[in-house]
Amino acid sequence: MTNSTTADMTARWAWLREQTPALRNRIYMNCGFQGPMSQPVADAMHAWIDRELSLGPTTREVLEARRQLATRYRELAAQLVGADPDEIAITEHTTRGINVVTGGLNVEADDGVVTSGIEHASGMIPSYFLRERRGADMRIVPLSPEDSPGAMAERFAGVIDARTRLVLVSGVSYSTGQRLPIAELVSLAHRANPGARVLIDGAQTAGHEPIDVHASGVDAYAFPMHKWMCGPGGLGALYIRRDRIAEIDPAAVSGHAAAAWDFAGEFTPERESIQKFELTTVSGVLLAGGVAAIEQYLASGPEAVWERARALNRVAEQRLKRTGVTVISPSSEATRTGLFTFHTPSIPAAALAYHLQQTAGIVCRGVRELDAVRLSLNAYNTEDEIERVAEVVEGALRDGVTPEAQAVAQPAAGAVEP
Ligand SMILES: Cc1ncc(COP(=O)(O)O)c(C=O)c1O
Repeated sequence: MTNSTTADMTARWAWLREQTPALRNRIYMNCGFQGPMSQPVADAMHAWIDRELSLGPTTREVLEARRQLATRYRELAAQLVGADPDEIAITEHTTRGINVVTGGLNVEADDGVVTSGIEHASGMIPSYFLRERRGADMRIVPLSPEDSPGAMAERFAGVIDARTRLVLVSGVSYSTGQRLPIAELVSLAHRANPGARVLIDGAQTAGHEPIDVHASGVDAYAFPMHKWMCGPGGLGALYIRRDRIAEIDPAAVSGHAAAAWDFAGEFTPERESIQKFELTTVSGVLLAGGVAAIEQYLASGPEAVWERARALNRVAEQRLKRTGVTVISPSSEATRTGLFTFHTPSIPAAALAYHLQQTAGIVCRGVRELDAVRLSLNAYNTEDEIERVAEVVEGALRDGVTPEAQAVAQPAAGAVEP
């Protein structure tokens, strides 16, 4: 929907709401965890199941259709991030893509691994394992939601040096909701060490902000279909810059990782093809849903989605501030996204998130590290929904939360944050 008028876009968001059953039944503000599927996405998945059901999964036309679907998915995932299709590996999720790179890059003892203090476990734990297993010198750059892009770049500049081998950061932080200056970090890292590689955790960016991996020069970018893209759970993709593919070894291997082999001992590994990172069977159902989800997002327009999400964040900031809560996510336009987080000292975030859902059908989540409630504001959300959140928060601040909500305030030890 390029060059669309405001009226076009208003109609588009209304259409999307109407097509997405969960949005009719709930105030759904949790696509940063998992996005609600639309009927067209679900229909594409059902159609695939019906095809396999009636013809069998290995009938020639079904196999051919699945091959075409995988090709189409690769093309669309490439278009989504500004890559070429032969730079895209099909994965199950962001975390797999991150692990392909951290597990396959030759990181040696004392090589620098740089990350930030606002990463998800899916970025932190692979970094810690590089320290544990390879003896990497891991550096964690502290960041704050008030930081400007320049201030963030300066903090990284203080840590990135000629020994830096890997920079692993989110494009958008899952906790504070701030946008990181990726292109600046890429040029910092490559200037400090031509051998440094920058890997982006795109869990909170794909389907949220426009992405151009070629323009930013980033080395690798992992992203999912099941968050802002509102596609099926368990499907994602990994971009690796063409000239970096050969240097990353596949940690898990299948026939795709062999250029030639036989039963007499002859074996030549595949180096150049990104498919060396893929294993065997991929679900046609998921691919069908992924294709439909990307088509739906591209039809809305990445710029339009991004502008709308950020506009809703501004509305939330103005309205929620009046309730007396402390807004945590950035109020600067340079780092603002569709993720809106807030804190209130009188009610634990987990309890408030539970209360919002239990009493008003508002689906969102608590972020434990910040004791903050996080609203994922996607283009389909509305100003009225934000008003409703504010009213329920006001009610909770005045009258307290339900006993059930109070009981969930203490999460089980070892619980994994989605
Ligand atoms: C920043 C970030 N990275 C990684 C993940 C894990 O995503 P996935 O399920 O795609 O592996 C999440 C999930 O919320 C996230 O927010």
